Amino acid sequence: MYNIALIPGDGVGKEIIREGKKVINAVSNKFDLNIRWQEFPVGSDYYLKTGELLPESMLKEIEDMDIIYFGAVGDPRVKPGILEQEILLKIRFYFDQYINLRPIKLYKGVHCPLKNKTIKDINFYVVRENTEDFYIGSGGQFKGIRNKDRLEIRRKLFQAEVMVDFKLEKTEEIAYQIGLVSRPGAERVINYAFELAKKKGMKRVTSVDKANVLTNIYGLWRKVFNEVSTNFQDIETEFNFVDAITMYFIQKPEWFQVVVTPNMFGDIITDLGAMIQGGLGIAVGGNINPEGISMFEPVHGSAPDIAGKNIANPFATILSGAMMLDHLGEEQAAKEIEVAVESVLSEGKILTCDFGGNALTSQVGDEIARKILEK
Ligand code: NAI
Ligand code: MG
Repeated sequence: MYNIALIPGDGVGKEIIREGKKVINAVSNKFDLNIRWQEFPVGSDYYLKTGELLPESMLKEIEDMDIIYFGAVGDPRVKPGILEQEILLKIRFYFDQYINLRPIKLYKGVHCPLKNKTIKDINFYVVRENTEDFYIGSGGQFKGIRNKDRLEIRRKLFQAEVMVDFKLEKTEEIAYQIGLVSRPGAERVINYAFELAKKKGMKRVTSVDKANVLTNIYGLWRKVFNEVSTNFQDIETEFNFVDAITMYFIQKPEWFQVVVTPNMFGDIITDLGAMIQGGLGIAVGGNINPEGISMFEPVHGSAPDIAGKNIANPFATILSGAMMLDHLGEEQAAKEIEVAVESVLSEGKILTCDFGGNALTSQVGDEIARKILEK
């Protein structure tokens, strides 16, 4: 019995999550899984009607669930950032989902923009740290003088809070943002990356950083990576600088197996990853807390430009549903979804317009559910 919190959200979120749920229900039917869905209607409509984003009471209710299946949030009627920060990011932080897992996999039948690369060449994981680095939200703007000798920034770390003292003299606008890497924060995500490599039978873990310039935070990251790697003698390791890896993702994606990266670089390189696997229509993300409540979602947003037309591509959401079942330990059910997706993609008959077809969102979901049930 699995209790799944369903958060469709805004725009196409509602349309694609409906198909994801349809496919999970089909596979549950087949494998006798007992799934209880509980929908949380948060998002722009709820916010505009009640003034509430994600109330504490709902977070508490979600705490009693096993897992979260998320569509997308964002609405042109609401100031950018509000829904995204107060719903999506709030969930990620509240449940300490410290891993952002992004499989980069090219499926047969999906157009790859890289010349001469095939499905054999693009199949790896990016494990992005999801709570630290430049995303801790510590920074500020002030007026001072941009002179290294006179501007003294003293950083004192006290628990998670960063306090900064400045000696200011003149009035120039200055802004700063602080990146933080902690030993436990780096350790847990790097360890997850190695465990993932082991579980998937992969032989190499690549660490991404910029330790040659940002020596403090990524120096610590490297040190921890080296230490953790000693527990995994069978797995080869390497370091790539973030600028270099953007070249290698294009030039030799076949080289990569598991890539582990601090938050900000992960944000950037996973968009590049999404493109080489065929775009947002198929890019999947898991926000994982291995000891707690995880959340699975498509990488794309609420796509207001196509919302309400039943033409959004549901593959990313359906595959994130498979990843969610895999996370719950239902590996066979997850595989079944993936096989059905692969079959629909390679037949190429029932695809949405972004993949060059003319099917509706719901027709894609119907077809995948049908394939699962017919076998
Ligand atoms: P977006 O991902 O919503 O859309 C970017 C482009 O890709 C659009 O042209 C859209 O039509 C297309 N697209 C996205 N998903 C698609 C799908 N399933 N099938 C076919 N085409 C698809 O990003 P955008 O436009 O920058 O943001 C729209 C809203 O979504 C904003 O409010 C943004 O803040 C929010 N957002 C939310 C995310 C989340 O909830 N995880 C992630 C990214 C953005
Ligand atoms: Mg991004």
